[in-house]
Amino acid sequence: MNIAVIGRGNVGGGLAERWRTAGHDVQELGKEGGDVSGADVLVVAVPAGAIADAFAKLTGAEGKVAIDTTNAIGGRPDGFESMTHQVKSLTKGPTSKSFNTIFAAAYDKIDGQSCLWCGDDDARAATERLIRDAGLDPVHVGDISRAAGLEDLLLDVIFPIAQDRGGPFFYTIENA
Ligand SMILES: NC(=O)c1ccc[n+]([C@@H]2O[C@H](COP(=O)([O-])OP(=O)(O)OC[C@H]3O[C@@H](n4cnc5c(N)ncnc54)[C@H](OP(=O)(O)O)[C@@H]3O)[C@@H](O)[C@H]2O)c1
Repeated sequence: MNIAVIGRGNVGGGLAERWRTAGHDVQELGKEGGDVSGADVLVVAVPAGAIADAFAKLTGAEGKVAIDTTNAIGGRPDGFESMTHQVKSLTKGPTSKSFNTIFAAAYDKIDGQSCLWCGDDDARAATERLIRDAGLDPVHVGDISRAAGLEDLLLDVIFPIAQDRGGPFFYTIENA
């Protein structure tokens, strides 16, 4: 696939490296923005408060499948129930939330671990493929209405566990 990663830091840069290893073409963009019209999928990996500004510097994002990795650190913008809804308002295309509960610092150890995602049905194929090609196992949580829950999960559960355990961790979800 042709992937445009918006934000090339811990998350965007780390996932880009894993997807290139899996054979994808990855374009990494930072604060300068750029043209993403050639992308099959956009991956949003900027600070929560920078989403609107980042999209204002893109061309060709309309209608694209978008995977939002952001967390609502610092709060959500007025009028949006989740960061993922904000992303969808900017692309007006199929949108999912994923990777937000995975610590970038542990990307070299995540093979086979579970990766929660939720979102639109027409974003499912791209999202699950890119989760697998990053080395993870996709776990479907529900539609885009679950996005705020995944954001709250990070702040209210995953972060406190990491604080208590003294660092990043991973988890696996399997049927009993
Ligand atoms: N770190 C983690 O373990 C982790 C895990 C899950 C989710 N997340 C979430 O993923 C997102 C990215 O986190 P990160 O740790 O990768 O951050 P980071 O390392 O600080 O990287 C941020 C990236 O966003 C870009 N950026 C910042 N402001 C921008 C703007 N106004 N317009 C366009 N691009 C802008 C930066 O561009 P430049 O390269 O030009 O500076 C940089 O490439 C955050 O929402 C975070 O909550 C983080």
